[in-house]
Amino acid sequence: MNVAVKNEKLNRWIKETAELCRPDDIYVCNGSREEYDQMIAALLKSGIAIPLKKRANSFLFRTDPSDVARVEDRTYISTSSRDEAGPTNNWVAPGDLKKTMLSLYAGCMKGRTLYVIPFSMGPIGSPISKIGIEITDSPYVVINMHIMTRVSSRVLDLLSTDGEFIPCLHSVGAPLDKGQKDAAWPCAPIERKYISHFPEENLIWSYGSGYGGNALLGKKCLALRIASAMARREGWMAEHMLILRLTNPEGKQYHIAAAFPSACGKTNLAMMQPSIAGWKCECIGDDIAWMKVGPDGRLYAINPENGFFGVAPGTSYSTNAMAMDTLKDNIIFTNCALTDDGDVWWEGLDGEEPAHAIDWKGHDWTPASTHDAAHPNARFTAPASQCPAICKDWERPEGVPIDIFIFGGRRTSVVPLVFEAFNWDHGVFLGATAASETTAANIGAVGNLRRDPFAMKPFCGYNMGDYFQHWLAMGDKLGSKAPRIFYVNWFRKSQDGKFLWPGFSDNSRVLKWICGRIEGKIGARETPIGLLPKEGDLDLSGLEMSAENMKELMSIDIHAWKAEIPDIENHFSTFGKRLPGRLRQQLQEFAKRLG
Ligand code: OXD
Ligand code: MN
Repeated sequence: MNVAVKNEKLNRWIKETAELCRPDDIYVCNGSREEYDQMIAALLKSGIAIPLKKRANSFLFRTDPSDVARVEDRTYISTSSRDEAGPTNNWVAPGDLKKTMLSLYAGCMKGRTLYVIPFSMGPIGSPISKIGIEITDSPYVVINMHIMTRVSSRVLDLLSTDGEFIPCLHSVGAPLDKGQKDAAWPCAPIERKYISHFPEENLIWSYGSGYGGNALLGKKCLALRIASAMARREGWMAEHMLILRLTNPEGKQYHIAAAFPSACGKTNLAMMQPSIAGWKCECIGDDIAWMKVGPDGRLYAINPENGFFGVAPGTSYSTNAMAMDTLKDNIIFTNCALTDDGDVWWEGLDGEEPAHAIDWKGHDWTPASTHDAAHPNARFTAPASQCPAICKDWERPEGVPIDIFIFGGRRTSVVPLVFEAFNWDHGVFLGATAASETTAANIGAVGNLRRDPFAMKPFCGYNMGDYFQHWLAMGDKLGSKAPRIFYVNWFRKSQDGKFLWPGFSDNSRVLKWICGRIEGKIGARETPIGLLPKEGDLDLSGLEMSAENMKELMSIDIHAWKAEIPDIENHFSTFGKRLPGRLRQQLQEFAKRLG
């Protein structure tokens, strides 16, 4: 071990883990630039990192084709009873799961180095932040954690001899025999992958995958699954939400937190540059919000992360110029294509397709190929501080006061562009029943409609019925200071399959209407699903859009909404007694309004 660790619990845990996993070496990370550079140098030497000539200090990695996304089917919430985990989570009793995983962990780091990563979610030392320690045998994980979290030896100083931390154990699950050549991307087969959470003891065990949310344990595992369970116990909120600051032409600021499922445009909205004159948008976070009630009774949010782990395909100067400008240097790219002049490429990037590239599997690709050059879940890992749209207050320890919540998803039909909830309970009903078409962010079928309450289905660390109740309780606590709740759908298509709304920077038009509602400056038309913009109230100046398309975008098909009711009933019935009565009542009222 390169340094002595003072914290007793941590020392014991490192020792026990080393005895179990039997690495060749132990290295405690300090988060420095030199450390990052050394790790990169080693990854370049072994041929795993591919340097990019066109972007300084940036590298491309290719994963094993079986290890390209989160694995929800192999993700577990292991509470003492199945009921505590609830119907949206996979469950195995802690004793059984630990037994299985301990046998997998035995000797799993042979031939590798065990890295100890001390990290803070949230600014180091902030009262809202949490300390985690990830033990991993993956140098790729170490460099990604350097960007996505605050890795620092100061975290160890803060822990002192007896401070508390969340232990996060990770192994790629591919021990090496003496002299055995390492795989380009070591990992275990799908049936031996386990992404396990023990929320009752704030513990994370991950085995067999080296990719994204399965392996960078500060993100989905700690900041959402474990944090959501802690938040409920402690009376705060950990949500799958972007955070942005919108400033109107008069200089008034609005803080918005928005929950959309994975790969539905959170990063694009978080960095959006308004198309309407005089409005400004700044990014505070693109994926996770931790929110607490402040001394003034309002809800304050921080972004616990330090970087963006964004979906590359579809990102371009026309969809997200700020992300593109963030990606110029110091970036880790994963599963993008490689061009002949040493740059990355993905579907949807500006300009011409390259005449030739190397695809994400390392094979030749040309525009005539029948498959994509980049994997649809190819990612960039980028420091948040490099984003030109980052808000100067993004690291404010006390957070920013949230005025507006937005829920949404990817719906090609039924759901209009925007509507407002009648009140908090109705807003919670909208969040609880949110549905979206599935994306490539998880391994599984793409394009199926599923209920994804609050975009938290894959990330809620306890029974979702209790989570709904927690939302209702937070509303009661916030009272008149609660954020107002809206629902949006950027993805509605016309009968001939074309998107009806231009989206991206034009989404500012929707946000402007929302701010008008908050100010009480703008009316709305009451419909059975909620409050919709009145004709002419959305600022469409300078936008070429036919009145017909606008009408379709805002239309409410009562039959189609009625057809949702049995599915919502079915969804609610899975929570049994844990479904709050107030939501059952919301459903009854909704059905009544539909007639
Ligand atoms: C993500 C996800 O990576 O939600 O943010 O899958
Ligand atoms: Mn996400």
